[in-house]
Amino acid sequence: MSFKKRLTEKLSDVLTEEELSILPRGFQTLGNIIIVKLNPKLLEKKEIIGQAYLDLLSKIRSVYINKGRIIGSFREPENIEFLVGEDNPIVEHREHGIIYRFDITKIMFSQGNLNERRFLATLVKKGEKIVDMFAGIGYFSLPIAKHSEVGQIYSIELNPKSYKTLLENIKLNHLEEKIIAINGDCKKEVIELSKSGLRADRVIMGVFPAPIDFIKEALSLTKKEGTVFHFEGVVEKDDHSSLFKDFEEVCQEEQYNCNLNSHRLVKSYGPNLFHTVLDIFVKKN
Ligand SMILES: C[S@@+](CC[C@H](N)C(=O)[O-])C[C@H]1O[C@@H](n2cnc3c(N)ncnc32)[C@H](O)[C@@H]1O
Repeated sequence: MSFKKRLTEKLSDVLTEEELSILPRGFQTLGNIIIVKLNPKLLEKKEIIGQAYLDLLSKIRSVYINKGRIIGSFREPENIEFLVGEDNPIVEHREHGIIYRFDITKIMFSQGNLNERRFLATLVKKGEKIVDMFAGIGYFSLPIAKHSEVGQIYSIELNPKSYKTLLENIKLNHLEEKIIAINGDCKKEVIELSKSGLRADRVIMGVFPAPIDFIKEALSLTKKEGTVFHFEGVVEKDDHSSLFKDFEEVCQEEQYNCNLNSHRLVKSYGPNLFHTVLDIFVKKN
């Protein structure tokens, strides 16, 4: 029997037919916590519903409720509230051989980006130098460090809370030798890295909206032999070319050549909107 059916059965004596019909279809699991989104009409009975989840899911210790979106340039959860179980938002979420330890009420973790977190590591060749410009808690840096033969990753994060969590996760996963974490604005930090002589094989630009204002500075990391940039954005279905044009325009102004090697749809982002990544090869003219 599907989970939704079991949940509906369990709540059939306490919810009306209408309320049962608007129970959520799914939920997000992070370690031993689940996060549910409830239709506002169900909020009056949120505790009873939360308890039903807890009773049905034996490995789950806490249920939280998501009442907001991911907001601001730090991409933080707007409003995640404790509902039932153990009131402890610090989770250890295991994915692809990595432990991500973080506070689910302060730090986002997108299930939809799972394939991209996994995939990037498969592209990395032995000895590469990588700059992860919007590193967060190490979404990309940690799996790359763990599963590839990368030389060095420079992981830049501006939000002090995420930076602290990044440092903890590097330690927790024993990846101190592979990752250098930097707390700062990547717009400035990439220039500092470039001035220090660093040239990268790969630059990850993973943030919403597309980090167009950061391209000029990021280009300063380009190697003589060329550098791959993983550039994220949101596009209308199949319209990755307009996102590439934005990148290309800056390259032309700065006298770089760029080629779109490939692109991937990461996840659906809304009606006819898709989170996309472009893999762009850049070389100085
Ligand atoms: C949440 S991650 C997105 C990671 C990945 N794309 C994903 O969805 O899994 C983006 C991170 O960039 C950070 N950030 C935003 N502006 C920044 C800046 N100017 N310099 C460095 N980090 C920045 C945010 O604080 C956030 O942690």
